[in-house]
Amino acid sequence: MHCRYFGECGSCKLFNLSYDQQIEQKKELIKELFESLHVKDFSLRQSTDSHYRNRAEFRIWHDGESLSYAMGKLDGKGALKIENCPKVVKQIYDLMPLLKEEIEQNQLLKRKLFAVEFLSSTQKCLVSLLYHKPLDDSWEEEAKIVAQKLGISLIGRSRKVKKVINEDFVIDSLKINNETYKYKIIEGGFSQPNSFMNAQMIEWVLEHIEDAKDLLELYCGHGNFTLPLSKKFRRVLATEISKSSIASALKSCELNGIENIEFLRMSAEELTSALDKEREFNRLKGIDLDSYDFSHVFVDPPRAGIDEKSLTFLKRFDTIIYISCNPQTLKRDIEFLEDYEIEDFILFDQFPHTLHVEAGAILKKRI
Ligand SMILES: C[S@@+](CC[C@H](N)C(=O)[O-])C[C@H]1O[C@@H](n2cnc3c(N)ncnc32)[C@H](O)[C@@H]1O
Repeated sequence: MHCRYFGECGSCKLFNLSYDQQIEQKKELIKELFESLHVKDFSLRQSTDSHYRNRAEFRIWHDGESLSYAMGKLDGKGALKIENCPKVVKQIYDLMPLLKEEIEQNQLLKRKLFAVEFLSSTQKCLVSLLYHKPLDDSWEEEAKIVAQKLGISLIGRSRKVKKVINEDFVIDSLKINNETYKYKIIEGGFSQPNSFMNAQMIEWVLEHIEDAKDLLELYCGHGNFTLPLSKKFRRVLATEISKSSIASALKSCELNGIENIEFLRMSAEELTSALDKEREFNRLKGIDLDSYDFSHVFVDPPRAGIDEKSLTFLKRFDTIIYISCNPQTLKRDIEFLEDYEIEDFILFDQFPHTLHVEAGAILKKRI
């Protein structure tokens, strides 16, 4: 990828390395970090190095009557005006100038706009406009015209107000091992930003499932991994803290005709208390937790990693499959799981041109 803003824009910190050099650098950093855990040989799945981000957020810069998208500068001092960003998928890349032109011509849409968020599915784009002003019916009328002209969904957000033109979600399709899954992805909820790498991660997890009975999944989000994994297991119990992500997950099950998943809106900590019978929860009425025979547990926690109580709970499982967006907390958590050995370890390059890397680990209890 080449970008005219390399060296100035804070979004790409590895701007002066070729993609192959970036890969080598990431591998070296991870080797160093995991040396004490004897992780030496591992593979790294590469991304396409441009047009990979299906979601992106830009600030808005006002210059008299004209507008620009903006990103934080590499040196951390202020914002850099940009016309485009080659990291975003083509759908967003093509939409950006058209949307800017529409907003620029329209005082109601332009005034006090400070940021724009894009979310793209294989079918449609959803754009959120963030304002420092209240939004009224006249804003909505203008926004409807622009949404129709550009064929997008538009959301206006200001303090405590959310106005939705068309829909506040997209339906995305993802091909996993020749099967296509449909997902409802809600605005503001967590979703993987690089669809190509997302499919790679899911396929890697699927490759490591053997002798499957029931699956316990913590941090399931909108069911990104859960839906394809459900095909390998008799039953799945999947939990997640976000109410809107669970609602999306239920809708996605319906869209795909999947009936062997029980989604629960519960934190990992709450679920472990429930499974250990320390607390009773109304949300669990009618669900017989004892009827599950879990052969695997799959976790994909946020950057903070897994809390100690949940990690202690995980120690009763023979196989833990761990996807991590933060190698530091992955290392900390594996160290806590001292009776486990790392059977497989892999990196997924979700964000080329940045230092960020996702990791996967298969952890097996030592006999
Ligand atoms: C890295 S995301 C992974 C989501 C999903 N696996 C995916 O691929 O889209 C982590 C998820 O954990 C959820 N989460 C954060 N803290 C949690 C907690 N204490 N208990 C359960 N879920 C939590 C977040 O809402 C988020 O959906």
